[in-house]
Amino acid sequence: MRSLEVIAWAGLSIGAAVGGITIWLAYRKANSRRRQLPSADEWQHLGTLKIINFYPVKGGAPIRLDQVECSELGLQSSGLWERCLVAYDECGVVVFAGSYPRMLSVHPKIVSEKVLRLEAPNMPPIMVDLNELLREPYEVLEKRKNGNVKRLVECRAEHHEWLSRAVLQREHGLQLYVKLKPYAGEKLDIAPVLVMHERSVHDLNERLSGKTKPVDCQQFRGNIVVDSNASIPPYNEDNWLWLRIGADVESSVVMRYNADCLRCILINVNVENYTRNPDFEPLRMLKKYRLRQNPKEPSMGVYFDVYKCGILKIGEQVFVNYA
Ligand SMILES: *[C@@H]1O[C@H](CO)[C@@H](O)[C@H](O)[C@H]1NC(C)=O
Ligand SMILES: *[C@@H]1O[C@H](CO)[C@@H](O)[C@H](O)[C@H]1NC(C)=O
Repeated sequence: MRSLEVIAWAGLSIGAAVGGITIWLAYRKANSRRRQLPSADEWQHLGTLKIINFYPVKGGAPIRLDQVECSELGLQSSGLWERCLVAYDECGVVVFAGSYPRMLSVHPKIVSEKVLRLEAPNMPPIMVDLNELLREPYEVLEKRKNGNVKRLVECRAEHHEWLSRAVLQREHGLQLYVKLKPYAGEKLDIAPVLVMHERSVHDLNERLSGKTKPVDCQQFRGNIVVDSNASIPPYNEDNWLWLRIGADVESSVVMRYNADCLRCILINVNVENYTRNPDFEPLRMLKKYRLRQNPKEPSMGVYFDVYKCGILKIGEQVFVNYA
């Protein structure tokens, strides 16, 4: 009786151990498959790269580019990086187009290496020269939030006034800063590249038709827009794990899924006249069928980390490896 018990216990223990190892091996396999770059035959053709939007001013209009550098920190062009200019309001809160729709009327233009010209309706343009603003010595202001640190260098009084006039139509209220690049390995506040799948925006517009005017894909503020092959259904992006942009494997840019982009009132602001949609669209519609990951914020668009840097060009072939 006693020896039988021992054997039974031994059997159970071995069973549990084997089970545990099997689960661990399966987990490791799944995890390594997800972490490792897909091999040459694991890519499927998805479509072409249609639009590149570079946003040097947080909340401002994008600069459309035919080609752009894609680094681990996101898009870069002429020595400028994404959201290198950030505004704060009088409460010390970051200005974004959801709370200040007229930020979208601020159109940055690249003038030369690290020099931008900001334009806005009925305003004389103003130059923002990062070479000059970041000439030593300069004072760095640190703002910490959720384990993320922003290092800011204040722009000039004339920049604050210009932006306040353009966005608030008064002399004061907003302050413009240069946001320095994070240090290597430092936590980013959001993943660097927001990818939009155009067919999903078409599908959304079909659902909205008759109720409200079609929504411009630009309202979602993606960095790149993928025009997919006709055989690819809308919301196919829900299963994208890896994206490779460029037919040539060596020079292609490779990105890995980081998170769904959860949407807020920002997408209800019309990019042409900076007004909010009176019917709360398209957010209201998205909430009816795109609450995938969050009970309040619908998913539309996908954030990617850059795994292999390089140059992105309009018209390049895009390949996918599914989750
Ligand atoms: C679209 O997909 C189909 C089926 O996979 C393929 O035969 C066709 O070549 C693709 N079109 C383009 C432009 O890649
Ligand atoms: C802004 O543009 C949208 C879309 O064209 C239009 O429906 C809306 O009436 C415009 N709003 C204003 C205030 O002009």
